[in-house]
Amino acid sequence: MSNNPEYRNGKIIFDGIDICDAASEFNTPAYIYSRKMIEDNWLEYDLAFGGYKHLVCYAVKANSSLAVLNIMAKLGAGFDIVSLGELERVIAAGGDPKKILFSGVGKSYTEIKRALELGIKCINIESEAELERVNAIAIEMNLRAPISLRVNPDVDPKTHPYVSTGLKQSKFGVDIDLAFSVYKRAAQMDGIAITGIDCHIGSQLTDDSPYFDALKRVMNLYSKLTAEGIEISHIDMGGGIGICYQDESIPNIKIYIEKMVAMVEESGAELIIEPGRSIVGNAGLLLTKVEYIKKGDEKSFAIVDAAMNDLMRPSLYSSWQNIIPATETDADEDTYDIVGPVCESGDFLGKDRKLRIKQGDILAVCSAGAYGFSMSSNYNSRPRAVELMIDNNSVRVIRKRETVAELFANETIID
Ligand code: LLP
Repeated sequence: MSNNPEYRNGKIIFDGIDICDAASEFNTPAYIYSRKMIEDNWLEYDLAFGGYKHLVCYAVKANSSLAVLNIMAKLGAGFDIVSLGELERVIAAGGDPKKILFSGVGKSYTEIKRALELGIKCINIESEAELERVNAIAIEMNLRAPISLRVNPDVDPKTHPYVSTGLKQSKFGVDIDLAFSVYKRAAQMDGIAITGIDCHIGSQLTDDSPYFDALKRVMNLYSKLTAEGIEISHIDMGGGIGICYQDESIPNIKIYIEKMVAMVEESGAELIIEPGRSIVGNAGLLLTKVEYIKKGDEKSFAIVDAAMNDLMRPSLYSSWQNIIPATETDADEDTYDIVGPVCESGDFLGKDRKLRIKQGDILAVCSAGAYGFSMSSNYNSRPRAVELMIDNNSVRVIRKRETVAELFANETIID
């Protein structure tokens, strides 16, 4: 099932809003999100657990706008963070520190200290060296740090190599075969309180069977640990459920969650997940204007005002995202590469797209709510786009368009 917005009377209506109107009012490039779709996606996960003890921790990196985080916080979500910046964003947005998990392979002294000060739910430890550091900081602070070990279960998530994280050759986590001895060491540490087992095998998974393989291995470890007297109160299976960008079939969320609950149930451990993309991905569009049409012998280009700095996924991973005109027109159909103004041949949003478009038209890049704005940059000294949220049939600015002055406000010229 594709999640493209529909045309009504020749115009794209996204969550009740004519996106052409939004583009002319707020200018382009612009990210536009639907509050309702974000909420519905989160609730779909939350409700799927039935009465079983769980926590849905939104992966902040997918879209870290304060308004998005605040919507999650109001729903009662937990948060999966990977940096001090994400931590402070969650707090500023009203998130509950007791529902925050801290993942990532390179947590600094300052980051760990701040997380412990705030009393977060759990630090997902990714190496023995990190375990030592967390222990030392906790002892300094005279407390015990709640931790889980991120185990690497060596299962193939069958996704893009850049977002595949659960194989032995990956930098993430601790080899599941070594995890038992690391847990035993952790159990001896004065600054450590073991609370969980964590695992995240990859992103944009279109098949859920790797999760069940991974969970089987995690539950084996769970049994070994409890037999050793090491208590585990939660199992965290990470994020990674994919979305439909083109024609992918996506696992049914309810069935996926129910299957995992069935595997964990007997233990009574709390089941945690960390979805990002599947909550915000299809709840967002990137709106961009056609600046020029350039027709050549071999290729035709639609040069638009959004670029790889605004949406990096096509350039970085050769990702395919649907691109559709905001208004149906009778312009001649042609096959275009949709490219931005950045001075790189890799600056494209889509290639070989059959479209009826002309100069000045607004295009919508679909499925842009996840890893769109959050991965954007100022390359070519381009201010970052405005972010808009549709809330109850009105469009609100949730992040102003950056100004050119802001781009170099922190810079100094030396003599
Ligand atoms: N938990 C951890 C520890 C993660 O590393 C990630 C994503 C998630 C949860 C959320 O995964 P999701 O549900 O969003 O798949 N920039 C790439 C995706 C990178 C994902 C990194 N980790 C992209 O645009 O496809």
